[in-house]
Amino acid sequence: MKRTTILTGATFGLIAAVSVTLFAKEKRDGPSALFKEYCAKCHGEDGTGKTPKGKQLRARDFTDAEWWSAKSDADMIKAVTTGGEEMPAFGKKLTAEQIETLVKDDVRSFAKRK
Ligand code: HEC
Repeated sequence: MKRTTILTGATFGLIAAVSVTLFAKEKRDGPSALFKEYCAKCHGEDGTGKTPKGKQLRARDFTDAEWWSAKSDADMIKAVTTGGEEMPAFGKKLTAEQIETLVKDDVRSFAKRK
């Protein structure tokens, strides 16, 4: 009886540890699924913008901390929502929350990951 309790406890502990590790890994290793789906075509999965499309349109290098530290979240959210010169507008495709997460968690995190 006691043995079973310990085993059950250990199993749950292990499952929790594995989930935490997997979740942490996903956060650290790459952009969100949303970024990959809508933004990586031009900005690249590494955020440098060195994709054929990104080079052609001259997308920014998101790993360049100097560039984006001069930009506020609000500036970038606005740019993604209404679009730029070559950058498409995402205000109709994505919700305001999705755009905010993309800017705060994806665009900003590229420079930190370098
Ligand atoms: C068709 C290519 C393309 C796609 C797709 C694209 N971008 Fe861009 N993006 C650009 C280009 C080119 C620029 C350079 C500035 C401009 O054209 O306004 C840019 C600029 C930006 C900027 C900087 C704006 C500023 O304030 O200077 C941000 C932030 C950004 N993109 C985020 C995103 C996000 C988030 C997505 C996905 C939802 C995305 N982009 C999808 C091409 C793209």
